[in-house]
Amino acid sequence: MRGLFVIFTVCACLGAAQLQAAGDAAAGKAAYALCATCHGPAGAGMQTMNGPQLAGQEAWYLERQIKAFKDGVRGGDPKDVFGMQMRPMAMTLPSDEAIDNVVAYIRTFTPTNSPSTLSGDAAKGKALYALCGTCHGAKGEGMAAMNGPALAAQNDWYLVTQLKNYKSGARGTDASDMYGMQMRPMAMTLADDQAILDVVAYIKSLE
Ligand code: HEC
Ligand code: HEC
Repeated sequence: MRGLFVIFTVCACLGAAQLQAAGDAAAGKAAYALCATCHGPAGAGMQTMNGPQLAGQEAWYLERQIKAFKDGVRGGDPKDVFGMQMRPMAMTLPSDEAIDNVVAYIRTFTPTNSPSTLSGDAAKGKALYALCGTCHGAKGEGMAAMNGPALAAQNDWYLVTQLKNYKSGARGTDASDMYGMQMRPMAMTLADDQAILDVVAYIKSLE
């Protein structure tokens, strides 16, 4: 009996969380016009503007990042040159509802397999990725239960920047960045720039 009650309560809470997160895509479309200038009209990413792919990324992660930028949990460190460009953009979304709406619009995009722009050794990267898979999924598809975002379709140049940022402490060192703090020691397991290129080459092979 008690077990059943627990299951029912958990389901009810999940239902509520999903309802809360379901934004209005039509309302979010207008706000996305600004975002398109750096992330592309269909969220495929724009290397010239350093804006990563947003299409295909799950709603819980997109929302968490936009809030992290707004609060300065991400993009607040002077070493984080690109995150500092994104921060004022997140601030144009005045409320949680506005964030939910723009995320609902982003969720209407179809992800593209971003082209490889870098060369690393995917075979060497495979061994390094064994650890990563425990939170990002064996196929880099993301794992909500571990708070790990999807990586597979992401632009390789962006993945490299993030891994370097975690290592240098430009990302994942803010005292309230509890998710970034989980990721930072994982980036530290990549000994040098070549190891970063290798693991990213393997991630790109998973698409
Ligand atoms: C001036 C260019 C610019 C504009 C406009 C912009 N962004 Fe960004 N955004 C960036 C950059 C650059 C990054 C990557 C920051 C980094 O390298 O850490 C980013 C990162 C992000 C991320 C994190 C992605 C991830 O995988 O962690 C999200 C989510 C995001 N932007 C959403 C938005 C939304 C929503 C808007 C519109 C309200 C927007 N951006 C407008 C430049 C921009
Ligand atoms: C213990 C779980 C865990 C492991 C293991 C892990 N990560 Fe992560 N990773 C995370 C979490 C959680 C985040 C999201 C942080 C946030 O929300 O800001 C993340 C974020 C990232 C990002 C940024 C993605 C984006 O869109 O901005 C990259 C890149 C990344 N991880 C690569 C790796 C690689 C490569 C490895 C293996 C060397 C690895 N991770 C191992 C938990 C993990």
